[in-house]
Amino acid sequence: MALLELDDLSVTYRIAAGDVPAVRGVSLSIEAGEAVGLAGESGSGKSSIAMALLRLLPRSARLEGRALLNGEDVLTMNWGRLRAVRWSEASIVFQGAQHGLNPVQRIGDQIAEPLLVHRLASPAETSVRVRELLEQVGLPTWRARSYPHELSGGQRQRVMIAMALACSPRLIIADEPTTALDLMVQAQVLTLIRQLIAENDISLLMISHDLSVLADVCDRLAVMYAGRLVEAGPSAGDFQHPYSKALAAAFPTVGDPRSRLAPRGLAGDPPDPQQLPGGCSFHPRCPVALESCSTAAVELRPAGQGRTAACVLVGAGTC
Ligand SMILES: Nc1ncnc2c1ncn2[C@@H]1O[C@H](COP(=O)(O)OP(=O)(O)OP(=O)(O)O)[C@@H](O)[C@H]1O
Ligand code: SF4
Ligand SMILES: [Mg+2]
Repeated sequence: MALLELDDLSVTYRIAAGDVPAVRGVSLSIEAGEAVGLAGESGSGKSSIAMALLRLLPRSARLEGRALLNGEDVLTMNWGRLRAVRWSEASIVFQGAQHGLNPVQRIGDQIAEPLLVHRLASPAETSVRVRELLEQVGLPTWRARSYPHELSGGQRQRVMIAMALACSPRLIIADEPTTALDLMVQAQVLTLIRQLIAENDISLLMISHDLSVLADVCDRLAVMYAGRLVEAGPSAGDFQHPYSKALAAAFPTVGDPRSRLAPRGLAGDPPDPQQLPGGCSFHPRCPVALESCSTAAVELRPAGQGRTAACVLVGAGTC
């Protein structure tokens, strides 16, 4: 049994202007000890999935499908069980973690909070565990007495990771954990994440718009477009879906100045979820679209070597 199994998950926000279908029928699984990366442009629904997994979405969000964590459906579990699951079975490092810490509470107290709330340690054991966690994320133990504004962005991100590790969860969801950091600090935090999940045998769902960051850490990658999964497969293989290829090519290669001068970015913007194009949602921007792509929807199909892709050209030898 997979540790996490999303089965036909949909998230729809109800706003005054109507329904916003942010996530549309996503199925994805993560095995114990596996790291899976979820990529896609801004607005593709990545954070909505992350928040749905721990039922952290606003009341305006309607959830459909199933999100099985260790066989239990998070979407239907009662609040008592959900509180027990949060932090201790699955925890989340939020997007924009720089603002995720309480500015008037010391770092040590913030890391201790989930341990005390879940009664996993006595106050004395908690302070030992906080020091242990700070060391694990590469911060000196005296930082427990610091306030968030006394730390750099990278150090604050390390604190968020320590909080996520505190209750020894089996799954960590990291939503853009390095996006706001400069390249050097980003590399350090990525190395830390890689090391911690391996040492602690934790599964990881890592979200980013940058496929190269995900490929660095994850065993498998999944790509979203307009709320749908358009491709999933091992991070070592080549992408098959035209959107995944364009997303991968949109980032300059470090050490190759030509790629920075001529980024092969994708023209146009992602569609408004309230006005999705018919057929394959990607067809207005797809460089290899066929006439039929504007009317015929495409489901994920086998694309070889453990990969699936939702493109009519996959398997036709032309993609
Ligand atoms: N509370 C909300 N109410 C209405 N619409 C929302 C809400 N939250 C998100 N959305 C919409 O749902 C879609 C998906 O948003 P989401 O934040 O999941 O995307 P994302 O892939 O995480 O984007 P980014 O890379 O910018 O973080 C977007 O169109 C967004 O405008
Ligand atoms: S189905 Fe058509 S429009 Fe969609 S990605 Fe494939 S070729 Fe492009
Ligand atoms: Mg997001």
